[in-house]
Amino acid sequence: MWRPPGAKRRPLPPAHWPTAEEAAQSTLFSPIQLGPVTLPQRTWVPAMVPWRATESGEVTDALVAWYARFAAGRPGAVVVEATGIRDIPSGPLLRIGHDRYVEGLRRLVDAVREASGGETRLFIQLIDFLAVKRRPPPEKYFRRFLRIDDGHRRRLATHVGVETPLTESDDTLIARLITGDEALHDAVLTSRELESLRYGYRDRVNDVHLPQIRDLPQRLPDLFAQAAARAQAAGFDGVELHYAHAYTMAGFLSRTNVRTDGYGGSLSGRIRLPLEVYQAVRATVGPTLAVGCRFLVDEVFEGGSRVDDACAYGVAFADAGMDFLSLSKGGKFEDAKQPKVGRAVYPYTGPSGYECMPTIFADEAGPFGRNIDAMARVRQTIREAGLETPVVVAGGLCEFRQIEGILNAGLGDVIGAARQSLADPDWFAKMRAGRGPEILRCLYTNYCEALDNQHKEVTCQLWDKVQLKDPTVQKSRDGRRRLTAPPDQGRATSD
Ligand SMILES: Cc1cc2nc3c(=O)[nH]c(=O)nc-3n(C[C@H](O)[C@H](O)[C@H](O)COP(=O)(O)O)c2cc1C
Ligand code: SF4
Repeated sequence: MWRPPGAKRRPLPPAHWPTAEEAAQSTLFSPIQLGPVTLPQRTWVPAMVPWRATESGEVTDALVAWYARFAAGRPGAVVVEATGIRDIPSGPLLRIGHDRYVEGLRRLVDAVREASGGETRLFIQLIDFLAVKRRPPPEKYFRRFLRIDDGHRRRLATHVGVETPLTESDDTLIARLITGDEALHDAVLTSRELESLRYGYRDRVNDVHLPQIRDLPQRLPDLFAQAAARAQAAGFDGVELHYAHAYTMAGFLSRTNVRTDGYGGSLSGRIRLPLEVYQAVRATVGPTLAVGCRFLVDEVFEGGSRVDDACAYGVAFADAGMDFLSLSKGGKFEDAKQPKVGRAVYPYTGPSGYECMPTIFADEAGPFGRNIDAMARVRQTIREAGLETPVVVAGGLCEFRQIEGILNAGLGDVIGAARQSLADPDWFAKMRAGRGPEILRCLYTNYCEALDNQHKEVTCQLWDKVQLKDPTVQKSRDGRRRLTAPPDQGRATSD
């Protein structure tokens, strides 16, 4: 796991928990309107992939139990994990790319309604992503994927000090590359080929020579719109369009998007498809479904978009009529760690990944509310444009004085807490009931994230070994971890 320079283990912020009376007076536990949807409180469990869907992307009992467990803590909103909008094999990623998924998703919605007594509003995050291949063994890369051209011949000739391009057969040149060292590869391959060799091939929005990439602006609005219509049919309160992290729509927003077809280059070009997707979704679902998006306040890697871009995006999304804006940071492929041969590059392993899910091993800024300044700037710019769209903030938010301070200072409107809610799905309810000292506090070591990284069922180290011998407890495939947090023993007495 990457750590910033000067990183050391930082202490958790001292906990200040409210009494039940203080909680009742707080901004945190006051309602807020997100377009057509009222959140009874400003608490939000952001999208977290738990790897519990089937290989064909269907809802499972374990997935229903996962969301019902969050709902039992009665947060204002839960956002269901990134869910694929296409009807294509995507491993065990939850999917919504066909009508056959609606029934399973409806079961999930019903379970959340029941577990939260109808209080928690339920959103689903809609994602599109581009192809990412595993890092190949070098010999396989050279023999199967590399197409030798004049450029390779010319660069190889220069590298070995010959003036005219080499005339050896492709097979001979490939054999030289296979036995060659890194310096030879650096000299002969293009930067894109080097990346495919060392990290695995991945598509980018700039690859307009590929028909499926060129046509994204024609295809995506309808794919997102149909997915949103299915979410509506399944009974969700809203959809969150995933415009963040390492995925297709974030690729369009990125400063690295240099498409020349009107969907890249300038800021207005880069935001064009995200706006067209939103408009298609809205035209399909009408005004009764809340529609918002998640996007980045900063891509973090060199050459990526910065907070100034995010401020402009925020104003444009709000102006277009989105009902909420959920902010995140980083989580990109561009600075990710090199994967082992046979594994795919993972966007949360480099500096931008760190900023997305900062750990307790931090520089002086620490992980707690680390991204608030940038998020508050985006919100402030939206307000200065005369727009009131609620902004969801996240990143190491874990303690009452901190989050109430953020709300009261106007730095954010809704408090997103992913890992703290995983550590203790009842933490909002405990705060509200004046039971703060009972809260299990997240350690921010990213044990859960390491599981996510390996596509293993995500659990929390604070509770996944509790009562493992109980036969009624659902366990991971290897039987070593329980899949949901134990029930809140104190609820009966505090209700
Ligand atoms: C296991 C795990 C899975 C995640 N999956 C998603 C996801 O599907 N979509 C998303 O936008 N963010 C995802 N995130 C990022 C979180 O939503 C959140 O932005 C991040 O963890 C920082 O918030 P926190 O400090 O409250 O955990 C994931 C985080 C974790 C730990
Ligand atoms: S596994 Fe660690 S970082 Fe993840 S939620 Fe639990 S305590 Fe927090």
